[in-house]
Amino acid sequence: MIIAANLKTNLTREKTIKYIKEVENFLSKNSISQEVLVFPAISNLTLHVGDVIVGAQNAYPTINGAFTGEIGYEQLEEFAIKTILIGHSERRHIIGETQDALVKKFNFYKNLGFKIVYCVGEPLEVREAGHDKMMGYISKQYEGIDTSYENLIIAYEPVWAIGTGLTPTSGDIVAIHKELKEKSSAPLLYGGSVKVTNAKEVLALDGVDGILVGSAALYVEHFCTMCEYAQSLEK
Ligand code: 13P
Repeated sequence: MIIAANLKTNLTREKTIKYIKEVENFLSKNSISQEVLVFPAISNLTLHVGDVIVGAQNAYPTINGAFTGEIGYEQLEEFAIKTILIGHSERRHIIGETQDALVKKFNFYKNLGFKIVYCVGEPLEVREAGHDKMMGYISKQYEGIDTSYENLIIAYEPVWAIGTGLTPTSGDIVAIHKELKEKSSAPLLYGGSVKVTNAKEVLALDGVDGILVGSAALYVEHFCTMCEYAQSLEK
C-alpha cells in the first residue's frame, strides 16, 4: 500500500529532516515494506537518500525561467526529486489553479517521468447537490489527464473532509473509489481527516490502495503507526 504525508506549510528544514529520519528508522526497525511518501514544504527539500520517497508539493511546469515565486524542474533536480503532488484542493481552491493549468503541469512532469500523485475531490455544496452532480464534478478533474500514465497515483480527497475531522462513511468511500477505479486503474488513495484512530479502517476498505494524510501526519509517531497498519493489512 501507499502511505503519504502531506506536510503542507509546516515544519522547518531541521524538523523535516528529523521527521524523515524518524520515519525511516521506524520503517526499517519494523520491516515495513510499504511505499511511503513524504511531501515537505518546498523550502525544506534536501538531497535525500533512503526508503522514504520525498516529493514536491508543487512546482511550475518549467525547467527554469521568469516565474517569480515558483520553482521549476531545475530546483527539483538539484535534490533528485522525481515525485510531485498535483491538483491538491488547496491549490485548486485557495491558490486558484485551473484544470487547464493542472493539465499543463501534469503533462510537463509526466514527460519528465515523475511519479505524480494527482488529487481529485468535491466541495461540500457539490456533494450536497447529489451523486450525479458530484461525479460530474470529479469527472471534470480527470479531463486532460492521462489516466493510464504508468507513474500515476490518484488521491480522492473530498474538500469538505480536509482538515475538518469529517470523513465520508466507509460505504461512501468504497462506492466512490469503485467508480473512480473505472476511470483509471492507477493506485487510488483516500485523503481527508485520516487519523491514527480511523486509518486502519480506511486502509482496509475495498478499492483503497493507501492514504494521503495531512494534519495527523505531523505527529510522526501517528504517521509511523499508520505505516504499520498498512503493513499489517498488506493487500
Ligand atoms: P487532513 O489529513 O489534515 O484532513 O488533510 C488531508 C490532505 O489535504 C492531504 O493532502
